[in-house]
Amino acid sequence: MKNLLSISDLTLDDLTAILDRAESFAEVSRREIKKVPTLRGKTVVTLFYESSTRTSSSFELAAKRLSADVMSVKAGGSSVEKGESLRDTVETLSAYGPAAIVIRHPNAGAAGMLTQWVDASVVNAGDGMHQHPSQALLDLFTLRTRIGSIDGLKIWIVGDVLHSRVARSNIEAFQMMGAEVTVAGPPTLIPREIEKLGCKVEFSLERMEEADVVYLLRMQSERMEGNFIPSVREYARLFQINEQRLGPRQLVMHPGPVNRGVEIASEIVDSDRSLISDQVESGLAVRMAILYELLAGRPVEGGEGPSDPLPTIGAPA
Ligand code: CP
Repeated sequence: MKNLLSISDLTLDDLTAILDRAESFAEVSRREIKKVPTLRGKTVVTLFYESSTRTSSSFELAAKRLSADVMSVKAGGSSVEKGESLRDTVETLSAYGPAAIVIRHPNAGAAGMLTQWVDASVVNAGDGMHQHPSQALLDLFTLRTRIGSIDGLKIWIVGDVLHSRVARSNIEAFQMMGAEVTVAGPPTLIPREIEKLGCKVEFSLERMEEADVVYLLRMQSERMEGNFIPSVREYARLFQINEQRLGPRQLVMHPGPVNRGVEIASEIVDSDRSLISDQVESGLAVRMAILYELLAGRPVEGGEGPSDPLPTIGAPA
């Protein structure tokens, strides 16, 4: 695997390999010394054209924990503001010889375009409404860690599915692992023909009690043109997940950032049915695994593979 652009590029074996590898890195994160030398001498660039807290910080920390050199570039404050194009920006950064470029961009397909311009591995950290594969992988890891198996789970994805790259990645990823996926929300926020992806569609939460996991989506106003709901209050009245709607055995997930009091009641965010903090924690181990699979997992031509991929820095050889 050279690039990570979309869940649909991955086989079930690829998914499982990344999740298994992430388990090793979660163990590393529990050690006193949390750093391993795997990517020593390699450079990872993170290039964000949209705001981010979780994805940008966890990719940066993941690369540092693997001992890579890291350059973090945000479009705001860079020469992008002087009119430099995406291609010129990427070619400029490529002069430093990065092994990987992690990019978030508002346009669908931006990460894919990079693969034509650079030798580095490209990781899609979110491209418009298209894909957010590392989010889907960390969500699988979170569920696998909490529940054991995803096979046969009923997962409802609720909210602004129309503008959500997370929904597109997660519908595919959950189904690949054997889950039955339903998307639910107001008709204006459910894409036409989404059932062609294999999921079911509901326009109310009346049947939500069948769900084992309720995966909530934020209203993505930054990608909305026009009004899709009568008001936030009306949306919350019909679709907010709160104590009245969530059963005692049902788990809640959310990619973040959450809007407390809109798609989710504050007491649910902080309840023991919420996996939201677990998702953030999983992000580090899974993004370490992604960088490992792209940059270190491939056998070195003419050389031997690493005998122990996860020795602690400073540990005896
Ligand atoms: N889930 C997610 O992508 O969060 P950030 O926008 O904070 O990276």
